[in-house]
Amino acid sequence: MQQQIDFKKFATYSKAGPRYTSYPTAIEFNTDYDYKSYLLDLQKDTNPLSLYLHLPFCRSACYFCGCNVIYTSKAENKTRYLSYLKKELSILKEQMDTSKDVYQLHFGGGTPTFFDADELKIIIELLRQTFPNFSDEAEISCEIDPRFFTKEQMEALKSGGFNRLSFGIQDFNPQTQKAIHRFQDFTLVQKAIEIARNYGIHSINFDLIYGLPYQNLQTFKETLHLCLKLNPDRFAIFNYAHVPWIKKTMRKIDETTLPHPEEKLKILEYNIEFLSQNGYKMIGMDHFAKPDDELFKSIAKNELRRNFQGYSTKGGTQTIGIGITSIGEGSNYYAQNHKDLASYEESIDKGQLPFCKGIQLSLDDKIRKTVIMKLMSNFKLDFKQIEEEFKIDFTTYFKEALEELEPLREVGLLEKTNDGLEVSQTGMLLIRNIAMPFDAYLKKFSNDKKVFSKTI
Ligand SMILES: C[S@@+](CC[C@H](N)C(=O)[O-])C[C@H]1O[C@@H](n2cnc3c(N)ncnc32)[C@H](O)[C@@H]1O
Ligand code: SF4
Repeated sequence: MQQQIDFKKFATYSKAGPRYTSYPTAIEFNTDYDYKSYLLDLQKDTNPLSLYLHLPFCRSACYFCGCNVIYTSKAENKTRYLSYLKKELSILKEQMDTSKDVYQLHFGGGTPTFFDADELKIIIELLRQTFPNFSDEAEISCEIDPRFFTKEQMEALKSGGFNRLSFGIQDFNPQTQKAIHRFQDFTLVQKAIEIARNYGIHSINFDLIYGLPYQNLQTFKETLHLCLKLNPDRFAIFNYAHVPWIKKTMRKIDETTLPHPEEKLKILEYNIEFLSQNGYKMIGMDHFAKPDDELFKSIAKNELRRNFQGYSTKGGTQTIGIGITSIGEGSNYYAQNHKDLASYEESIDKGQLPFCKGIQLSLDDKIRKTVIMKLMSNFKLDFKQIEEEFKIDFTTYFKEALEELEPLREVGLLEKTNDGLEVSQTGMLLIRNIAMPFDAYLKKFSNDKKVFSKTI
């Protein structure tokens, strides 16, 4: 990065804001959007499918974790969950055209590898029976906690067609690991990666988090250097979303040990510089990939999309959320499953999908969603493209948002050209701030900091 960045100044831009894995954000999902409306939307969407399966169980709590997790070590919980998944899939088969092509499947958690090899095989078989038309080029991925990953599980995933794995690394610093209650040394991770590589997995992602207790530029450099020795194909380096008012386990983290926004900006800038020197390119807000990675190629094809898993190479799909708490996304809706096991099971026992709430997108939502997702994915905006797609005059429609962006433009976070907006290298570090003026729902939260995590 050539520019000298004034970290002190930009650290003051840190404010509460969405991560825009959806627009409208999940906080806008509501029960006015009812089951009947959802079924109609689910059925009329003609796009090919992307499947997300949530496997919620974890053996112990990582204090930083913002995911929807159930802590347990009991095997009977898995058996019961499996039996409900089976019923959910058969209801889906009754309610929608499950013969559409499947472009993507993702197992997320929780810890998918809480399920043993035989159980994973059963789940994969059930999915393939329900959705028989997987594309030959489907991306089939699973989140792996390296502390719980065996050769047998790898074999089950491989024989089920899995071709990408994402490993939760977080940080290698022992002091940080102690503070977040997640212990995994380099050798343990190295062994897990070896298993994956031995089974011919060519796409390996590492999840890291910056902003965790006791991290500073030096400690994070060391973590990154260690990671590089294992040569992952992608990195997802998340900004720690600290929301202790929502996630109780985060209250175990001593806030005085968290790095200051200025330090976090330095870490982020270092990540970008170090990874680009080592053959990775930044993609969207928090991802990095090698130039031959599909994620990177999808930018050139204009297919990169932001979604609940971060970024995806497949635009134009209908996402079906399966399992507790999962979120589905169609061309004009979002739909979320029940978050607690009792309600999830109750719906299924009634022969209904475990739908809990959602939102049907208005035309204004669709316009703003397109704008925000383009900014979050490509760091630029072509006004004409939006004007042609939605038959609007961009500068009139977004007069207020463009005015709100002026101060950010004046300090060099973005440029306004005749045709659109272009985010600068420094602006990339603050992309959430740049997207926020286009969000029509945010105004009501302006004085309420206890909704979203901080942008830095
Ligand atoms: C759904 S979790 C599952 C990962 C898997 N269970 C593991 O721990 O290895 C996926 C990733 O989300 C990230 N994550 C979880 N909580 C977060 C938070 N509060 N802020 C930022 N990233 C978070 C972590 O990097 C984690 O690896
Ligand atoms: S980070 Fe992974 S293993 Fe840790 S609690 Fe969250 S989902 Fe479970």
